[in-house]
Amino acid sequence: MPVISVESLRKTFGEVVAIDDLTFDVNENEIFGILGPNGAGKTTTVECIAGMIAPDGGQVCVLGADPARQRQFVRERVGYQLQSTALPPALRVGEAMELFQAFYDSPADVGALLDLVGMTSERRRPFGKLSGGQKQRLSIALALVGRPQIAVFDELTTGLDPQGRRDAWHLIEQIRAQGITIVLVTHFLDEAERLCDRITVIDKGRSRFIGTPRELMESTSTDQATAHRLEDAYLRLLDHENADTGTV
Ligand SMILES: Nc1ncnc2c1ncn2[C@@H]1O[C@H](COP(=O)(O)OP(=O)(O)OP(=O)(O)O)[C@@H](O)[C@H]1O
Ligand SMILES: [Mg+2]
Repeated sequence: MPVISVESLRKTFGEVVAIDDLTFDVNENEIFGILGPNGAGKTTTVECIAGMIAPDGGQVCVLGADPARQRQFVRERVGYQLQSTALPPALRVGEAMELFQAFYDSPADVGALLDLVGMTSERRRPFGKLSGGQKQRLSIALALVGRPQIAVFDELTTGLDPQGRRDAWHLIEQIRAQGITIVLVTHFLDEAERLCDRITVIDKGRSRFIGTPRELMESTSTDQATAHRLEDAYLRLLDHENADTGTV
């Protein structure tokens, strides 16, 4: 039984077709990766899942609810880390957490969450004084304040140093171990290979692949070689698709 199901989703912004015709399911407690080039429609897709924007066509079902109609239900159960978190620079880490706590009836404990993301000693630091990695870790903690069943991370590790990325991976695994389903938008193929049970590759608002990272590597293997890295398989897939549709 999927916890998220996206069927024939379509979203346009004026002339721009952000999502053309997108279908995929996310199973309970899996780490599901959404990959694809810039502008492919990844953020738009997760915004539809989190109930932040309404689709123009198709269906999105999250934990049995329609996010566009049952926004409160979905917001209470889906933790969403925005692609770029913007908070007032003077707001302290602890204050930001308490502000977010106020949105929920039974929020998580601030101290425990800051401990989880390794930000306990930054509790009194203003948002504007945090490093990029600290902002990312705070955004993870903010996404978890409402004790969500599903956590959505959009480019969580972009801008992090190698150690920071490894720390974030470990954190994501810990969050999954708590029973939370994770949707991870990423441009890093090594990250997807390491973390994701299944992935979809989106291009121009359509899903070009759904399956395990290994299946992607096998499906794009040539007579000569199976791709040894997910990145090679990914590039081959998109190359092939673009050759088929005659675009460059
Ligand atoms: N509010 C909006 N108004 C107009 N166009 C939009 C809006 N939001 C997204 N778009 C357009 O929809 C398309 C998909 O955007 P989206 O942000 O979903 O891509 P993405 O896959 O997340 O890209 P990136 O990897 O760069 O984050 C793009 O062409 C973008 O310019
Ligand atoms: Mg995006």
